[in-house]
Amino acid sequence: MSVAKLHLNGRDIELPVTLGTEREVGLDIGALRSSTGAITLDPGYGNTGACTSAITFIDGERGILRYRGYPIEEIAEGASFVEVCFLLIYGRLPNRAELDEFDEKLTYHSLIHEDMKKFFEGFPPSAHPMAILSAMVASLSAYYKQSDEDLNIIRLLSKAKTIASFSYKKSVGQPFMYPRNDLSYTENLLHMLFAVPAEPYQVPKVLDRALNLLLILHADHEQNCSTSTVRMVGSSQANLFASISAGICALWGPLHGGANQRVIEMLETIRQDGSDYQKYVRMAKDKDSGFRLMGFGHRVYKNFDPRAKILKRAADEVLTELGVSDPLLDIAKNLEEVALSDPFFIERKLYPNVDFYSGILYRAMGIPTEMFTVMFALGRLPGWIAQWKEMTDEPGTRIARPRQIYTGAPERHFEPLAVREKTAELVLA
Ligand code: ACO
Repeated sequence: MSVAKLHLNGRDIELPVTLGTEREVGLDIGALRSSTGAITLDPGYGNTGACTSAITFIDGERGILRYRGYPIEEIAEGASFVEVCFLLIYGRLPNRAELDEFDEKLTYHSLIHEDMKKFFEGFPPSAHPMAILSAMVASLSAYYKQSDEDLNIIRLLSKAKTIASFSYKKSVGQPFMYPRNDLSYTENLLHMLFAVPAEPYQVPKVLDRALNLLLILHADHEQNCSTSTVRMVGSSQANLFASISAGICALWGPLHGGANQRVIEMLETIRQDGSDYQKYVRMAKDKDSGFRLMGFGHRVYKNFDPRAKILKRAADEVLTELGVSDPLLDIAKNLEEVALSDPFFIERKLYPNVDFYSGILYRAMGIPTEMFTVMFALGRLPGWIAQWKEMTDEPGTRIARPRQIYTGAPERHFEPLAVREKTAELVLA
């Protein structure tokens, strides 16, 4: 199979077929408009491939996720987040020397310019940390030249966690904790979040392991809303920091990364309402209620989200190890059980997604609810960077510029305000 035929307006045209590694089929419609005058219409892009990419493979029907060909289950079991960053961005696993060098660079670029610390003073204490993160990441472009692309990748990966931690410290009114060069990437993040200058802080191993897992599971997810935003903005040749800042804003929405915060808020509401989860399942099924079960459903996964499976197990293990018993976890499990046995959810293939269990874990780790989406953003950074780099490295990348089908008024003629007023007076009279 190498071409598809389309019959339109009395004409036959041939659409070349592009096959992916896993035999995914794409119709190349590059010549559609020039040869027929028609465009495709696909709101929400459910059927539209915007690029070819060698980074991440997802088979939503079979619940498969692979980074650069490696199954997520194997990566989650054996890799470090820094290794995954290298893999996603440079396309292969590092050897020991490469990993050490990469790790060292990440360590030595984690300080932010002292002037940037003053920015934090300008935000109100109630500022959402996603607002701070996106603004500060865009601001990095004021300090570093666009041409230093390789170094900017390192700077961004490294400084974003410092910015994220400072935004948390600002919200709780604690002094900023500087990164320490003797700590690993994830240890440093935990240190900057939870240490205070008044006493020593030993990073608990269980938190370090859980954070490593969470960051890895969020590291890339091919052409989702925020990644497509990064590519869209980057296609205008906007710099790396500006493009990723736009992705952070896209991630913030409750239908995307913001869902992890909403899941916990929903579970908390259910708990305060006597833990009657059945009532909320009924509400989710009633279209007039406007209520959705947060953390359920996915545009791509129609079987299960493999990340949710891993996180569910990890949540159990981490909570046991920390000795935390969280009533919200019980509600979450009940909700999942009811929803998965109910025909409404079965017919629509609505399974728990990654956000359903990540919130429980973040909560057990002592990370406040408003920081959940920030943690997601830190995890997604290597994916956004890899996708941005893949796009900008590809010769012939064009600016992303979708078309539309216009449904507004046909041509009409402008009347000056005085004439419109006169017409209105006549109508009233
Ligand atoms: N609760 C109840 N019903 C739902 C839910 C839900 N969470 N999700 C989808 N549905 C229903 C819809 O009402 C619709 O029903 P219908 O066919 O009878 O009209 C059907 O399932 C399909 O839903 P769509 O909105 O068309 O699915 P879409 O692919 O556009 O949206 C999305 C996917 C945004 C994830 C959606 O499932 C949702 O809103 N989920 C809750 C928010 C959430 O958890 N987002 C995180 C996603 S994962 C991530 O970004 C990291």
